[in-house]
Amino acid sequence: MSLVIEGLSKKYKKNNTELEVLRSIDLTVKDGEFVCVLGPSGCGKSTLLNIIAGFEKPSSGKVILDGKEVTSPGPDRAVVFQEHALFPWLKVIDNVEFGMKVSGVPKNVRREKALRYLKMMNLIKFKDAFASELSGGMKQKVSIARALCLDSNILLMDEPFSALDSQTRDILRMETQKMWRNTKKTIVFITHSIEEAVILADRVILMPSSPDSEKKEFRIQLARPRKIDSLDVTYMVSSIMKEFKREVEKVAKADFDERWGMEQDPILCDIDSNMGIGL
Ligand SMILES: Nc1ncnc2c1ncn2[C@@H]1O[C@H](COP(=O)(O)OP(=O)(O)O)[C@@H](O)[C@H]1O
Ligand SMILES: [Mg+2]
Repeated sequence: MSLVIEGLSKKYKKNNTELEVLRSIDLTVKDGEFVCVLGPSGCGKSTLLNIIAGFEKPSSGKVILDGKEVTSPGPDRAVVFQEHALFPWLKVIDNVEFGMKVSGVPKNVRREKALRYLKMMNLIKFKDAFASELSGGMKQKVSIARALCLDSNILLMDEPFSALDSQTRDILRMETQKMWRNTKKTIVFITHSIEEAVILADRVILMPSSPDSEKKEFRIQLARPRKIDSLDVTYMVSSIMKEFKREVEKVAKADFDERWGMEQDPILCDIDSNMGIGL
């Protein structure tokens, strides 16, 4: 299922002023493509995802799914958020089955499907545990299994691993690569981590820090599975890093001080490369 975003703009009204968050965004995501949307905090990533999901309305422009304009949430788009939103008093399997139960899927069908996706996410051993007994990473894996059960063509993920520790994040990034290979879903994945974007995506969209600038795109044509410490991944991360730093600096200059800069800051700059200055 292809996803087309055309001239999408969004302004929020705050008190009596308008906050322009997105301006004329165009983006086409091919069927089965994994796209990561990367950008500094506050640049409008969640706003974009919420409009695609149908939770928010654009101020102008549109989102088109297989030729039809999106106006509300629908079963063709499943969403995984940063916060897992599981029911702590339900067992893992019942959490995964919950959405299907509500939409009237017969018990044997939903059990079979829940078990299939719990297996895919390496969770089968925990199917009878209560959600409240699981670690943060496990809970996020359950959320992914639950989203997969909806059989949507498109999976929208908004910083799903941002609240986790780095080891757990590494594991979930590997699991996500496997899940995508097995399901062939079209995925739009929001992140502020360059490493995460390079590991996961076919294409990385770097959002500008303000609507005055254009977004940038990077095609990631590296073999999978990708590992965080492999040379080709490191090289790609550093080339996107240069652009990303510029966007982060723009945000910091606007928020703190026009003189703010990573290179000028004695703590943030690379001390080794400045050895000798002032001697
Ligand atoms: N419902 C809302 N009403 C008013 N302003 C909002 C709303 N949602 C987001 N914003 C503002 O829009 C900007 C972009 O937010 P968001 O899309 O959440 O950014 P990101 O996900 O990239 O961190 C922020 O300045 C935020 O305060
Ligand atoms: Mg966000």
